[in-house]
Amino acid sequence: MSTLKSLRALAFIIPAFAIPAAADLLTPAATKADSTIAFQSVNVTLPDSDRVFPGAGADPINNNCLACHSADMVLNQPAMTRAAWQAEVNKMIGSYKAPVAPEDVAGIVDYLVKTKGAN
Ligand code: HEC
Repeated sequence: MSTLKSLRALAFIIPAFAIPAAADLLTPAATKADSTIAFQSVNVTLPDSDRVFPGAGADPINNNCLACHSADMVLNQPAMTRAAWQAEVNKMIGSYKAPVAPEDVAGIVDYLVKTKGAN
């Protein structure tokens, strides 16, 4: 059998096995087993992570750096040199695809050096 024919055969075999499995997943657990699960309400206090970057010159960092993580997460990092903060911002943009306005990059690095800078 050619590879193409084998693939066509597989295309028919896979759904035959996949459909009963999917139907099984869609069956609510309660109808499968005669379990007695008791639901109850709980109160959970989540950490307050909606803080913005404080202080003067924080606009560029507040406008670009809060989409994926909190200000606290950034401010709890160790103090770093200007070169290290520049590399950090570059990493956010290059590796994590942070949509940072190019004209804001210098202001962000300045704020980080002023707030969390090391000599
Ligand atoms: C597109 C999402 C996104 C945006 C926007 C973003 N980051 Fe991040 N950042 C991440 C991810 C993902 C991590 C890694 C988190 C982890 O390791 O748990 C991270 C981690 C960090 C860390 C911790 C150290 C590290 O390298 O892991 C710092 C500091 C940081 N970001 C600063 C910034 C700054 C400053 C900005 C604005 C220029 C920014 N981030 C914008 C996604 C983002």
